[in-house]
Amino acid sequence: TTNRTFTMIKPDGVENGHTGAILEKINAAGFRIVALKKTQMTKADAETFYAVHNERPFFGELVEFMTRGPIVAAILEKENAVEDFRTLIGATNPADAAEGTIRKLYATSMGENAVHGSDSNENATIEGNFHFSGREQF
Ligand code: CMP
Repeated sequence: TTNRTFTMIKPDGVENGHTGAILEKINAAGFRIVALKKTQMTKADAETFYAVHNERPFFGELVEFMTRGPIVAAILEKENAVEDFRTLIGATNPADAAEGTIRKLYATSMGENAVHGSDSNENATIEGNFHFSGREQF
């Protein structure tokens, strides 16, 4: 069934000039862009978005990183979008990511791993609606 996922090109991916290449890979993999924008998260935004990780030792570092510069946020639609997008981006740690995946190509470390991908349909909806109003989703 067709469903949606949510992604962000993280500050490292934008800073390193990989926005165009990453969007091209997303397009080539057959995802339809439902919503797209360049934006920057505030500290409060990042703390809310990553609330599920707030007990983790890397939480402070994650919030600092995600707020240090602009991101590109998008909602994507495709058959089996959540799972197929996670395959396209590869493992969280780029050292473990498969050849040809976005993280293998563009991530620098476990923390600065170039892209986000929702881990479930439920979280895709929550995350997409965090960044985009209903009038921004087509
Ligand atoms: P993501 O899976 O998109 O969302 C949670 C993020 O936390 C993850 O990407 C990494 O950017 C970050 N993260 C996960 N594990 C670590 C870690 N051990 N050290 C630093 N950052 C991490």
